[in-house]
Amino acid sequence: MNVPIKTPAEIEKMREAGRQAASVFEMLTPHVKAGITTGEIDRLCHDYIVNELGSTPAPLNYHGFPKATCTSINHVVCHGIPDDAKKLKKGDIMNLDITVKTADGYHGDSSVMFIIGESIKGERLSRVTRECLYKSMAAIKPGVHLSELARIIQRHAEDYGYSVVRDFCGHGIGAGFHEEPQFLHYDGYSPDADIELAAGMCFTIEPMINTGSYQTRVLRDGWTAVTRDRGLSAQWEHTLLVTETGVEVLTARSDEDLSFIEG
Ligand code: MF3
Ligand code: CO
Ligand code: CO
Repeated sequence: MNVPIKTPAEIEKMREAGRQAASVFEMLTPHVKAGITTGEIDRLCHDYIVNELGSTPAPLNYHGFPKATCTSINHVVCHGIPDDAKKLKKGDIMNLDITVKTADGYHGDSSVMFIIGESIKGERLSRVTRECLYKSMAAIKPGVHLSELARIIQRHAEDYGYSVVRDFCGHGIGAGFHEEPQFLHYDGYSPDADIELAAGMCFTIEPMINTGSYQTRVLRDGWTAVTRDRGLSAQWEHTLLVTETGVEVLTARSDEDLSFIEG
């Protein structure tokens, strides 16, 4: 596997792409409440990315994906398609996945969970999933293997009786939306896929964690991935840069406490 190492000039462009993706959540968050449709959320994000940021929503027309964002509610694992029929209601949990492609041609990819009203079960799943992301991020530095990060995620999820989705993974990112390496979030690495991290690599961690079994299936729309057993699923995602000493979180939001990361 040939994992690209970004040049300092490319890293600057990745920083800008990451900042832009983070800013979409900052714009959108006050709008997300019971009653809004996923179609309205998608239009707000689309218009902000195009008109305010001067960038492109990378999912739109990506292998035929019809919308600017992915909105995945409750038992939807990922790649939910926004529409004007799906209104958020109290007790729902939703993942919103944003990928911005800047005018410079670089990608920033991030996703967060929204809890609508109250959901004890959903809040716990979302919190543990975010902890899976954060604990694995905190272990990033040159010399670490992808499988070590995956084991951190799997151990934490399984400690809570949850399962780690196997059918979708994290990925290298840069001028390409999805570059090498593939990042499996569970311990399923063949020796040649188990890349050793080096400074200048950019990739995403985006664990999808289920309350029931890890098995998924894709609906007839060709995109929407759901849990086979209809259990809840949550996901959090950041775009990350491996530095000489650790990690830089390219899609960090201003409201996010990342003080657990050293250096
Ligand atoms: N943003 C997703 C990811 O994290 C990919 C969405 S591809 C789409 O990799 F086509 F479904 F939008
Ligand atoms: Co991604
Ligand atoms: Co994403």
